[in-house]
Amino acid sequence: LANGLGITPPMGWNSWNHFFCNIDEKVIRETADALVSTGLAKLGYQYVNIDDCWAEIARDDKGNLVAKKSTFPSGIKALADYVHSKGLKLGIYSDAGYFTCSRTMPGSLGHEEQDAKTFASWGIDYLKYDNCNNDGSRPTVRYPVMTQALMKAGRPIFFSLCEWGDLHPALWGAKVGNSWRTTGDITDNWESMMSRADMNEVYADLARPGGWNDPDMLEVGNGGMTKDEYIVHFSIWAISKAPLLIGCDVRNASKETMEIISNKEVIAVNQDPLGVQAKKVRMEGDQEVWAGPLSGHRTVVLLVNRGPWKYPVTAHWDDIGIPPNTVVEARDLWEHETLKTRFVGKLTVTMDSHACKMYVLTPIS
Ligand code: DGJ
Repeated sequence: LANGLGITPPMGWNSWNHFFCNIDEKVIRETADALVSTGLAKLGYQYVNIDDCWAEIARDDKGNLVAKKSTFPSGIKALADYVHSKGLKLGIYSDAGYFTCSRTMPGSLGHEEQDAKTFASWGIDYLKYDNCNNDGSRPTVRYPVMTQALMKAGRPIFFSLCEWGDLHPALWGAKVGNSWRTTGDITDNWESMMSRADMNEVYADLARPGGWNDPDMLEVGNGGMTKDEYIVHFSIWAISKAPLLIGCDVRNASKETMEIISNKEVIAVNQDPLGVQAKKVRMEGDQEVWAGPLSGHRTVVLLVNRGPWKYPVTAHWDDIGIPPNTVVEARDLWEHETLKTRFVGKLTVTMDSHACKMYVLTPIS
């Protein structure tokens, strides 16, 4: 969407994957504090996004959305001021239907202009727009109404389409939003995570600065996967130029979780100015090679072992788009080391089960 936002994939946090409906203004404020105190904010995680369940079920007598008094007594404007005072941005959630998915609050269908103005007046910077409880009309009809409303609201607001991929929002999302879901909801396990990665990969050619494929938010730190699996999760999201929206409780994140989501080199791949989504370029049974171009004639390659045993896999230059005789230097982004060996034609590595290796290859002249 040509609103100047999402030039690189958005980074931040969202309440849903960890807290679901159990949110209040204290959690949001403390999360903003934690993003700053842990150093995550400095790494680029700037959006603090409130998901479903923040509003009263009834609008006020003028038809405005109202923050839930029992959980957000100070109101959203005060929260936005607080989050902004920390140098962060505030995101909110609504739905292109009559009620949101939780059915605990209204959706914006038929109130698009009014709600967009409300969000802008509160200082909102990001809107996630869900698709539950709608009138059965096509999302290609309902979503652009909110796009127009946001464009007129007088404040740049990142627009995240949460249509779950049913009617291929990747095919029409570029003019409507800054990101679009390509999948149903992620759950915190390996199979769910890898299947989101696969579904999202299909649309790789459609991602570009200003509009990104969204395989759903991160589960890193929520406890359902091993450390290696979470590293695969974060690596695939990074090379896929997916939104990096942390979905755990950052106030209580473990050292291991912090190590994964704070990997500067992996984040830099996600935020690379070229903005090209990597693709799966080779599958050999359970072993896969994913690769994509980066700025500066560099290439990112991710070798993934989806199988139950340790296994080798080879990245061939002709698969990953490097001219055959090119000699490259390989930087291992998880070991944080540049390999002493120079590679030409291919790179082979053995991986543990449900683990990956991630390299940036730089041609040596
Ligand atoms: C469905 C979305 O896909 C989820 O990410 C979350 O926003 C829930 N709805 C909230 O009800």
